[in-house]
Amino acid sequence: MNHLLSSQDLSHEQLLGLFDKAKSFLPTVKEKKMLKLAEGKILATLFYEPSTRTRFSFETAMLRLGGKVISNPQMEGTSSATKGESLYDTGKTVSEMADIIAMRHSAMGSVAELAQGSKVPVMNGGDGAGDHPTQGLLDLFTIRENLGRLENFTIAIIGDLKNSRVAHAQCALLSKFEGVKFIFVAPAELKMPKVIVDGLINKGFSVSETEDMAAVMEEADVISMTRVQKERFENEADYLKHKGVYVITVELMKKAKKDALLIHPLPRVDEIEVEVDADPRAKYFEQVENGVALRMALIATLLKL
Ligand code: CP
Repeated sequence: MNHLLSSQDLSHEQLLGLFDKAKSFLPTVKEKKMLKLAEGKILATLFYEPSTRTRFSFETAMLRLGGKVISNPQMEGTSSATKGESLYDTGKTVSEMADIIAMRHSAMGSVAELAQGSKVPVMNGGDGAGDHPTQGLLDLFTIRENLGRLENFTIAIIGDLKNSRVAHAQCALLSKFEGVKFIFVAPAELKMPKVIVDGLINKGFSVSETEDMAAVMEEADVISMTRVQKERFENEADYLKHKGVYVITVELMKKAKKDALLIHPLPRVDEIEVEVDADPRAKYFEQVENGVALRMALIATLLKL
């Protein structure tokens, strides 16, 4: 593994190796300890799009490994991109200074473009509506930690499935495991891209699509909620038309399995009632903790520590 650019890049064995390594880092994360594994190494975080979790998570992961961080959370407005510097040249330049790079950008394929110029590993922290591999990885890690397996379960992925790069990453990663049943719940205009649905069906997975969230609550072992991706809509009116269409409520959770998992990449807008947070099946803040351990595992793997 030289970079992590796409959720398609990882084999079944690599996924299991990452999850085992992430599990070994969990006590360090939970106890907020520091290791010396990455001493002398520098992570550069180049974020061209807003973030709370992903950037802090990459940075916390590097700091807990004992490395150091250089960061620009506003590359779009303050870096030499404003003078016309290409992503390729940015990759070449930053890799002369840092040992590893994490990047987010609004355009699909942009992280791969920067990686072409980089001589150090590059990690995709989200590229447009395309992919968000580390979020998908930490989602699967959370499922494995709680469900005890990544095979033979039913996942309902709900919301803006057209634009949710997390939903796309989850499908790509779960397709490396057997017996996963996918239920996609989305309004007609925000359906899961056909290429993803067809890809899963061609690999032999059971896939169904519906607009009725309530009807699938009883069936799902994992309920994966996503927000309507405001930043991907061309105008406010289109966004408002879909905002609030699906909301997980305490009442609705009564229909879910006793041992179901409710996951969400966050940020949340209005699609999960705050009162649901007290439900032990709600795992979205646990996901944040798992994300640091997972990114520690990824950095350690890419840097061959
Ligand atoms: N889950 C996630 O990508 O969150 P941020 O946008 O806050 O990084």
